[in-house]
Amino acid sequence: METINTRSPRYTALAIILHWLIAIALIVNWRLAEAAEHLEGPAAAVYMNPHKALGITVLILTVLRIIWRLMNPPPPMNDDYKPWERMLARATHAIFYILMIAIPLLGWLASSSFGYGVDMFGLFQVPALPVPNSPDDGKFIIGIHKALWTPMMILIVLHIAGALKHQFIDRDGELGKMIPGLAKR
Ligand code: HEM
Ligand code: HEM
Repeated sequence: METINTRSPRYTALAIILHWLIAIALIVNWRLAEAAEHLEGPAAAVYMNPHKALGITVLILTVLRIIWRLMNPPPPMNDDYKPWERMLARATHAIFYILMIAIPLLGWLASSSFGYGVDMFGLFQVPALPVPNSPDDGKFIIGIHKALWTPMMILIVLHIAGALKHQFIDRDGELGKMIPGLAKR
């Protein structure tokens, strides 16, 4: 029988690092925004400043990740995947990329409408985008920014359920593509 390793070559090291860095950053950023939800002024800023800076970091890392992916196509899916599994995985991944760009970009756009850039952990400033100063626009855009987290959450749950199904039910070495060492038995 074929070994798992030849059937499931891994993602490149950089793709794996970016996958896990971005995954962790997304969860941390969600918790930061939630922590700020019922606070005002400087108390909220304690959580919102890192939320914005980490969000811009996700945006930068995602752009890098997409460029890297175009240069280094992902390993092929196993031959025995059913058409619906392929479609579901492809659609999930595509929508992930769209949301990983759209969510932080809308956050940045909203801050810009309020007239603010982003302080990157005190290291440097990301300027406001060149948009008209309009708190009404800002509030509207933040509404979309928040609303997009719901589909993101649903996809994350679906994605993790899929990864665990492959690992523990199908036992096809899929998770080893994203976790070095796991596929080597
Ligand atoms: C990956 C990146 C990001 C994720 C996943 C994310 C997620 C979220 C979530 C879930 C909320 C709603 C929290 C709640 O009240 O229930 C939120 C609120 C917010 N986010 Fe983000 N965000 C990201 C990036 C950004 C960026 C880059 C900015 C600005 C530069 C930003 C600015 C804001 C603001 C101003 C709020 C509203 C806080 C309030 O209700 O007063 N976010 N974000
Ligand atoms: C929490 C946020 C997460 C996000 C946004 C995310 C996003 C993604 C994306 C976009 C891909 C496709 C990579 C590509 O081909 O370009 C991917 C692949 C993968 N992810 Fe995640 N992921 C997350 C968490 C996780 C977790 C917790 C696990 C493990 C339990 C996991 C396991 C995998 C595996 C095994 C693959 C390869 C799947 C395949 O080749 O079809 N991910 N992830």
